[in-house]
Amino acid sequence: MGGIPHDHYEPKSGGEKWLHRRLPILGLAYDTLMIPTPKNLNWMWIWGIVLTFTLVLQIVTGIVLVMHYTPHVDMAFNSVEHIMRNVNGGHMLRYIHANGASLFFIAVYLHIFRGLYYGSYKAPREVTWIIGMLIFVLMMATVFMGYVLPWGQMSFWGATVITGLFGAIPVIGEPLQTWLLGGPFVGNATLNRFFSLHYLLPFVILGLVIVHIWAFHTTGNNNPTGVEVRRTSKEDAAKDTLPFWPYFVIKDLFALALILVAFFAVVGFMPNYLGHPDNYIPANPLATPAHIVPEWYLLPFYAMLRAITFPIGIPFTDIIIIDAKFLGVLVMFGSLAVMAIAPWTDTSRVRSGRYRPMFKWWFIVLIIDFFVLMWAGAMPAEGLVPLISLIGTIYWFAYFLVILPVLGIIEKPLPQPATIEEAFDADHPIESKSAGTTAATPAE
Ligand code: HEM
Repeated sequence: MGGIPHDHYEPKSGGEKWLHRRLPILGLAYDTLMIPTPKNLNWMWIWGIVLTFTLVLQIVTGIVLVMHYTPHVDMAFNSVEHIMRNVNGGHMLRYIHANGASLFFIAVYLHIFRGLYYGSYKAPREVTWIIGMLIFVLMMATVFMGYVLPWGQMSFWGATVITGLFGAIPVIGEPLQTWLLGGPFVGNATLNRFFSLHYLLPFVILGLVIVHIWAFHTTGNNNPTGVEVRRTSKEDAAKDTLPFWPYFVIKDLFALALILVAFFAVVGFMPNYLGHPDNYIPANPLATPAHIVPEWYLLPFYAMLRAITFPIGIPFTDIIIIDAKFLGVLVMFGSLAVMAIAPWTDTSRVRSGRYRPMFKWWFIVLIIDFFVLMWAGAMPAEGLVPLISLIGTIYWFAYFLVILPVLGIIEKPLPQPATIEEAFDADHPIESKSAGTTAATPAE
């Protein structure tokens, strides 16, 4: 599939021509900035820019934090306190970085659910989706290792619980766990390797983000109608799109500014709201906290991990094929894998949820399910919590493996607009009239 037809960069001055023949970097910048973008993108298309901004924010604040942080079990906790008390602006830097992780995950979840609703994962955007999933997994690994660095109680015990999961893998589990930890338990070697990887992975993510952007620039953006930009001619494409600069840059920056007002209100007035007080207690291998919980953004997947309290075995015998702990690990990673294969399990020909009357309801239940799992992950695993987690987990898997394939077959979609231009004109009758297009207003 070729790109959307549009004007490409033409070097004008002598200097530009000279550079363009040797390194077409201005052409790359021009084509990236002026890329034709569906003109009907709504506010759910801002999250990619918010994510890009947050990634840079995390890298920059992280690099400065490292200048004052010491990755050693005897000094890590105090070095963080030193940052908070003595380093100029240090508390601000740390709070931005810690809350930046939350902003990153709020944005990524909205970005992912946007994709799930508007069918952005479907052909031809499967590669964009898969790279997004890789980014998401690396984000989880990065945030998990970052949380270990302050070497508080939750750092230590969170690392102990999660790395303990690898020990559940049959045969290779124990050596793998020892290899990950750099020893038989969470200690200095663990802290050092987590520090090293926590510094490295954001740059891997950055590389993947560039490929992610390259991928959707190749296919063009999806949009709320799910109808593709016309590729029949430059003129037709121009009727469905606007250049990214200045239209979407200004829109995205406006949204980013509002989000940052809310973000800095949290950083300034309630910086520890999303954190856990136990992490202000230095790590103590001899005192297990009453209730070990990960940060809020990992809770839905933690709930799925804990939902499995039973092994798989041969009925009426004592033979266990997969023990409960390992099954939990499989389910947790499986919950991501089933999301990654959505481009192939969703059999509907219609992309956007807007024109899928049945899909909409199942999608709403998926969102509720996500929040229920988040709540269940935060609760002690007692009373009804394990059962609720199990039902939530079953729905998550059923959505991707059963509901999406079946809906594509049984659902009768609503009529879709023929072009993006048509949908846009119907939504904006006055603007499109004054812009001189031939749209009909509802009154006509
Ligand atoms: C650091 C993390 C990420 C960054 C910086 C990022 C960046 C972007 C940007 C700038 C866009 C275009 C504008 C927009 O749709 O908002 C985009 C589109 C997209 N992203 Fe991401 N993304 C990230 C993570 C993810 C994840 C985790 C997924 C899903 C698993 C994902 C799936 C998609 C898809 C399917 C599109 C295409 C949507 C379209 O064409 O309209 N992204 N991403």
